[in-house]
Amino acid sequence: MKIALGADHAGYRYKQMLIDFLTGMGYECVDLGAATDQVPADDYHWTSAAVAEATVRGEVDRGIVICGTGIGVSIAANKVPGARCALCNDLFTARMSREHNEANVLALGSRVAGEGLAKEIVRTWLETDFSGGRFIARNTNVARIEEKYKRSEG
Ligand code: RB5
Repeated sequence: MKIALGADHAGYRYKQMLIDFLTGMGYECVDLGAATDQVPADDYHWTSAAVAEATVRGEVDRGIVICGTGIGVSIAANKVPGARCALCNDLFTARMSREHNEANVLALGSRVAGEGLAKEIVRTWLETDFSGGRFIARNTNVARIEEKYKRSEG
């Protein structure tokens, strides 16, 4: 499985740590920045959008975005049509975001979840399948809202 990762300066160290962790587990990682933890590094919106776009276009299977809280990157990623970015700083929401929401992008907060927990969140999120069934219609309805407001493919 191929995974794109992106972060701002606050998430940079976690991004590097997760690339090592995922590579060690056999995943192929694509690093879309930031390239440093210095302020101002690439701000979270561009790297987050790049990860969401790569995921929606099918260039990678899943995306992971990281900032201090995970909030900024999740908001930015969800502006990309087709992105279903879930902010998960605990194991329960990591699992549910896959089973019920079929999240294709995971957002994490480096200032919220400790390193060990962050690794387990990522592992859980990657290893949990979508439940399908009644949850398919809900995702379809979310996509309908997106269609209503979509103006261009950017
Ligand atoms: C950076 O200080 C911080 O605002 C950012 O990483 C993120 O938490 C924003 O949502």
